[in-house]
Amino acid sequence: MDRIALRGGKPLFGEIPVSGAKNAALPLMAAAILTDEPLTLLNAPALADVATMGALLGGLGVEVWRDRVVGQLSLRASAIESCVAPYDVVRKMRASILVLGPLLAREHKAQVSLPGGCAIGARPVDLHLKGLEALGAQLDLREGYVFAEAPGGLKGARIVSPVVSVGATENLLMAAVLAKGETVLENAAREPEIVDLAECLRAMGARIEGEGSSTIRIQGVERLRGANHRVLPDRIEMGSYMLAPAVAGGSVEILGARRDLVGALIERMEAAGVSIEDSPRGLRVSRKPGERLRAVDIETAPFPGFPTDLQAQMMALLTMAEGESRIEETIFENRFMHAPELTRMGARIEVHGGSALVKGVERLKGAPVMATDLRASIGLILAGLAAEGETIVSRVYHLDRGYERLEAKLSACGAEIRRLRDQPTTAARAAVA
Ligand code: EPZ
Repeated sequence: MDRIALRGGKPLFGEIPVSGAKNAALPLMAAAILTDEPLTLLNAPALADVATMGALLGGLGVEVWRDRVVGQLSLRASAIESCVAPYDVVRKMRASILVLGPLLAREHKAQVSLPGGCAIGARPVDLHLKGLEALGAQLDLREGYVFAEAPGGLKGARIVSPVVSVGATENLLMAAVLAKGETVLENAAREPEIVDLAECLRAMGARIEGEGSSTIRIQGVERLRGANHRVLPDRIEMGSYMLAPAVAGGSVEILGARRDLVGALIERMEAAGVSIEDSPRGLRVSRKPGERLRAVDIETAPFPGFPTDLQAQMMALLTMAEGESRIEETIFENRFMHAPELTRMGARIEVHGGSALVKGVERLKGAPVMATDLRASIGLILAGLAAEGETIVSRVYHLDRGYERLEAKLSACGAEIRRLRDQPTTAARAAVA
């Protein structure tokens, strides 16, 4: 498995472009199931998860191709040949569950593997399933799969979610656009990725109001058409790179960064002493090398609160802030796996359940580390940018799921970062021969 080697302690200067959002692209790709016409996504990131979703859709009979234009991904579901999302794909990528709503809407049936647990928490999908039942789907859970059908088609309903769920809101939105009558989603997620999906569905002919608020109203239509849609910038990639000069020192312009997408992060970074200014092409983030930051408390929450997907990266920053920072993780029950790894780099962190107390140290020291999920991995990369000496981050495949051209983007700003390609083992060499 590849690893990433970093030599830290160098301030960063330059610019970093933000790619299209992984977590917007995945549901948008699933939305292609809803029409037999082509859906073209501009600014689609080239990431492992996008490829996995492409392979899953390919197995259903959807044609998926990258046009010559960089970042343009086209999908066409002329006919759905299979309604099965197999375990082998779903276990690799939980977002595979997002094909359930669109398959039920278009084909009135689906067979999707249940995703199971995950490194950051139990992550049940009960809200997806209950919502689809409210829309008239009959579900049977057996052999690790959900077998779903809606013989006469789905019917609009009022669905009140007890918990704000991004994925359930997306699945139900995609199911409801072709259901008969009106659907009202109450306590819906307000994330920008939901707004992006609603905008794309509207361009395809769907009738949706209220996205971005906690009540979304959908009037079902008979059929949807193709569309061209530009994928929203990735606010988590954006936030991760905004934290890079904050951690390492320096001044970097984040191209395409938007305050409305990362408001909660900006507020906390400024409270810690980082300078963030509007720039001609995005936001400029600066911190004088050697200037000590202040401790701040954070609590993760659904949008517009502080995103759980930036918690590990913010923790990397706070390990070197003066004083004690308290981090409350309220979304996932096991999302502090990066804390013991940061401790190996000299950080002082005490974790008690969903709460972490970070006692700032002057500096971190490089070490070999590994992470169990995507955002923990980028948190360790950020820590490595500031740490004295060499840091080697293993399990790079996590990073390849969510960060396009990571080494190129950071090294363009002066970071000493490179990928160590794994040497094939003797057995693998023999197999190839
Ligand atoms: C999305 O996951 C993102 N993934 C996650 O990003 C992100 O961390 C998460 O939203 C929260 O912002 C994608 O968009 C592909 P949820 P999702 O349903 O939709 C509970 C990353 O690193 N819940 O909003 O799966 C759940 O356990 C990833 O890019 C239920 O109880 O998250 C959690 O506590 C990781 N029952 C809370 O709701 C359900 O049926 C929020 O989860 C569904 C969720």
